[in-house]
Amino acid sequence: METYPQAATLDQDSLSMEAKAHDPRGRPRPDAAIDKRAARQAFDRAAATYDGVAVLQREMASRLLERLDYVRLTPKIILDLGAGTGLAVDALQRRYRQGRVLALDFAFEMLRLARRRGSLLRRPTCLCADAEALPLATGSVDFVFSNATLQWCNDLDRTFAELRRALAPGGLLMFTTFGPDTLRELRGAWAQADGHGHVSPFLDMHDVGDALVRAGFEGPVLDAEYLTLTYADLGGLMDDLRGLGATNATRERPRGLTGKARWHAMRSAYEVHRTEGRLPATYEVVYGHAWAPMQRVVADGVVTLPVSAIGRRSQG
Ligand SMILES: C[S@@+](CC[C@H](N)C(=O)[O-])C[C@H]1O[C@@H](n2cnc3c(N)ncnc32)[C@H](O)[C@@H]1O
Repeated sequence: METYPQAATLDQDSLSMEAKAHDPRGRPRPDAAIDKRAARQAFDRAAATYDGVAVLQREMASRLLERLDYVRLTPKIILDLGAGTGLAVDALQRRYRQGRVLALDFAFEMLRLARRRGSLLRRPTCLCADAEALPLATGSVDFVFSNATLQWCNDLDRTFAELRRALAPGGLLMFTTFGPDTLRELRGAWAQADGHGHVSPFLDMHDVGDALVRAGFEGPVLDAEYLTLTYADLGGLMDDLRGLGATNATRERPRGLTGKARWHAMRSAYEVHRTEGRLPATYEVVYGHAWAPMQRVVADGVVTLPVSAIGRRSQG
């Protein structure tokens, strides 16, 4: 895998499509929203192949985990949101020996594999649920880790509000997701071939940051980098996306079989990107973290604080 600097060239077609894909609060317009049933089915089907093709997701998880080296944290309850097959479970358990990992995913077949992670005495607790409606008590989680999942949520405000509710005061949310330049070559090639994007829309990191602030998170930090996978041919990319379960599940996705002529047109349009014999697939990877506030307003302006947050007044 190669890492490209931020200043990679921008594809104007995909940018203008993105601008129209979300409303000002970051919600996709109804047609561009994810059809959750279709997405869940695609992830269920992909469970068996996922680990074999998740090269990028593994790299993202490892880069996100590395960032934890700089954070002092002793979480008891760790939520792996959109845990998939549980790629990060072992690393999280090794890092936080006193912590218990909750692996949450809406695809049951993914969780079937996730529940085998860890050791016999220390398996993750698996929860089959939607990230946008968490079956978790308020303030019950100390740390939320989420790799390559938030882009599948339709309402980021709602998702972040749920995460903030589930986090204990002072709890940490740390995630990766994808920015608008992700798969720009594929999006552009399809747009030329048949006028459709065929690739789910992704939010700009500034909008993700705004959504964190609206949900009441503190100290949000976001940054992005470009990672590029290269393929001998387009079939390799399409096989990988299918193997990951990352198919186009927007409500506006074209239904039925794609005609040979359109495939051919798309392939030719993609070929213009071939460099040194390989076809690139660009991913704009967004990293973010933010904290749940130490104080929580319960009702009528009453504020609660954990005892640990009450400092001693200095003398003199
Ligand atoms: C690309 S995979 C990432 C899996 C894992 N985090 C990793 O790093 O390998 C995205 C995962 O998010 C799950 N997912 C997508 N939307 C979800 C939702 N609304 N609620 C819960 N899980 C969701 C999918 O089933 C899939 O397992």
